[in-house]
Amino acid sequence: MRRILVTSALPYANGDIHIGHLVEYIQTDIWVRFQNLVGNRCVYVCADDTHGTAVMISAGKAGVSESKFIAEMQRAHERDFAAFDIKFDNYGSTNSRENRALCERFWKSIRAAGLVRERDVEQLYDPEAKTFLPDRFVRGTCPKCGSVDEPGDNCSKCGHHYSPSELIHPRSTLSGATPVLRNAPHLFIELEQLHDFLDEWTQSGKHLQPEIANYLKGHFLGEPLRDWDISRPAPYFGFEIPDSPGNYWYVWFDAPIGYIASTHQWCERNGEKLDDWWRSEDCEIHHFIGKDITYFHTLFWPGMLKTAGFTLPTQVHIHGFLTVDGEKMSKSKGTFVAAKTYLKHLDPTYLRYFYASKLSSRVEDLDLAVDEFVAKVNTDLVNKVVNLASRTAKFVEATGLSATYPDDGGLFADAAQLGDEIREAYDATDYSRAVRLIVGLADRANPYVEERKPWELRKDPKKARELQDVCTVALNLFRQIVVYLSPVLPRLAEQAGELLNDPIKLWNQSQKPLVGTKVNKFTHMLRRVEEKDVHAMIEESKPAGSPAAEAASPGAESIGAGAQWNDSGDALAAEPLVPECTIEDFAKVDLRVARVIAAEDVPEAKKLLKLTLSLGGGTTKNVFAGIKESYEPEQLVGRLVVCVANLAPRKMKFGVSEGMVTAAGPPGKDTKEVFIVTVAEGAVPGHRVH
Ligand code: 2FM
Ligand code: ZN
Repeated sequence: MRRILVTSALPYANGDIHIGHLVEYIQTDIWVRFQNLVGNRCVYVCADDTHGTAVMISAGKAGVSESKFIAEMQRAHERDFAAFDIKFDNYGSTNSRENRALCERFWKSIRAAGLVRERDVEQLYDPEAKTFLPDRFVRGTCPKCGSVDEPGDNCSKCGHHYSPSELIHPRSTLSGATPVLRNAPHLFIELEQLHDFLDEWTQSGKHLQPEIANYLKGHFLGEPLRDWDISRPAPYFGFEIPDSPGNYWYVWFDAPIGYIASTHQWCERNGEKLDDWWRSEDCEIHHFIGKDITYFHTLFWPGMLKTAGFTLPTQVHIHGFLTVDGEKMSKSKGTFVAAKTYLKHLDPTYLRYFYASKLSSRVEDLDLAVDEFVAKVNTDLVNKVVNLASRTAKFVEATGLSATYPDDGGLFADAAQLGDEIREAYDATDYSRAVRLIVGLADRANPYVEERKPWELRKDPKKARELQDVCTVALNLFRQIVVYLSPVLPRLAEQAGELLNDPIKLWNQSQKPLVGTKVNKFTHMLRRVEEKDVHAMIEESKPAGSPAAEAASPGAESIGAGAQWNDSGDALAAEPLVPECTIEDFAKVDLRVARVIAAEDVPEAKKLLKLTLSLGGGTTKNVFAGIKESYEPEQLVGRLVVCVANLAPRKMKFGVSEGMVTAAGPPGKDTKEVFIVTVAEGAVPGHRVH
């Protein structure tokens, strides 16, 4: 018997669980159920990841304390997980007593190992929100390619990595204020000191998928590892560092320690010793995570565990992202479906089955194509599997199963033999292969029923014995398939156990037919999925105000009867309105009509043109505009444009930009297609735009 501790990534306490998250939790839950089914002792822990600026800000916006905010979020998360049959042995919180104590313990070891250095960090600070800004709370123009509205760490357009202070026209996403640079001391862990160990551990071929080991080698381990900044100055929602008052551990320091803290809570409740699970040679530790958090779990975390003397992960299982109909999940398209919205429309069993049928051990994205989802559930699960029982159980309600197992031409024995292969596939997290093999068994079982025609046999009393035998075979093949599928479909396993008066608990139940038992009245097991329900779920997931929602709203106004514009495209849906501002807010922006008096290419920049604008009265401004892909310089000279005239000057690589030319464009960051905002005949340079 293996002893195995399993974790999924701790979900952030600042948002709902959605179908993208569920890929991982379903993947992990299947593995845990499988391990227990085959007789291993497998414990599954998780927790809410509660600290950091994001939670602090969200709680502030909601007008509640952080503790109240995270407590409510945790309740919602736990409810969603339970509804999808994701069964944790313990679900904790990183904001727990146990976690604080463990963080202190890790910290002492890391200090004692001489890995901590203090250094001043210049970070952007939001003077209005009075807080330092993490990278993702700053957006601005990419200093490399000029793409606008890029996040604070790297450009979604050209992939360039930068620090948020390098952004052109940075703005805080909290308040919209222009952030200022401020110095504060931070604590760093010198990961480079662990380079040899991490080389060895990541490249041993034992703990990581090969593509992940290669990625780490190519991206991080080929050069000195960068120091890891693990402290944040107040205000910060987290644990204060005992020997560095006023500084807090960065959320990514205490989050993975939460795995151990959650195990600790489970141990306390079950009379177990934490050391047997986290400091023991004979306990395996398996983490399931998404590819976006690879380096935290494959470099920092092993480094921390090694230094503090805890067991290193046996394996980190990394999965790709969910796409829907081949595209990234999108709020505006309604494919960013919250778990609770899914549950209003569809049965959780469908999603568990579908994800299992698509998941492999590779780090690939998983696509939920609506038609494939419907077809798989209806064709495989309802038609092939559930039908085996629904077409036969009723004929043996009175008699029960035959006392001895009839001759089935080797069907049961062959399927039992396939068990090892299915088992290996599950153990290797190759669920798509497991499901393919199992559905193959249903493909062999169904012709047996069709040829023997129990619905005909029942008409002839002389064939009662034969009828009982045929149904005994069909129900045993059904049960065998359900045992194999039980890690994926615990509800179906429970229903099958009830039907045949024999609860499904162990893999070995697939190896021996069931005979002589009573058969209960067949009750409905799983209904077919209707495509219209999937579409209704997607509609409900679209943000209010999108064209679809408006069309459904009876009160929607039209622009004059008979003369209605019918604008195509859904730019508004894709980029909904930003929060309301007051007229005073708007008045802070000085928009002026200006004439382009010179325009030239900036050869080193992919997207920038340098424009000289006249604002009238002898005032000119030089502006770098990210419009090169849409306009030739000569097309612009002489044209009237609208410029943001009071924007603070920005020093750029190519010179100082003294304003901004307004332009319209499609949603997102694609600046390939932009349209300069112009003014109607009559306006002159210097006119204010109100
Ligand atoms: O990426 C995330 O959503 C993080 N909350 C995952 C944390 S996993 C672990 F390290 F705690
Ligand atoms: Zn860029």
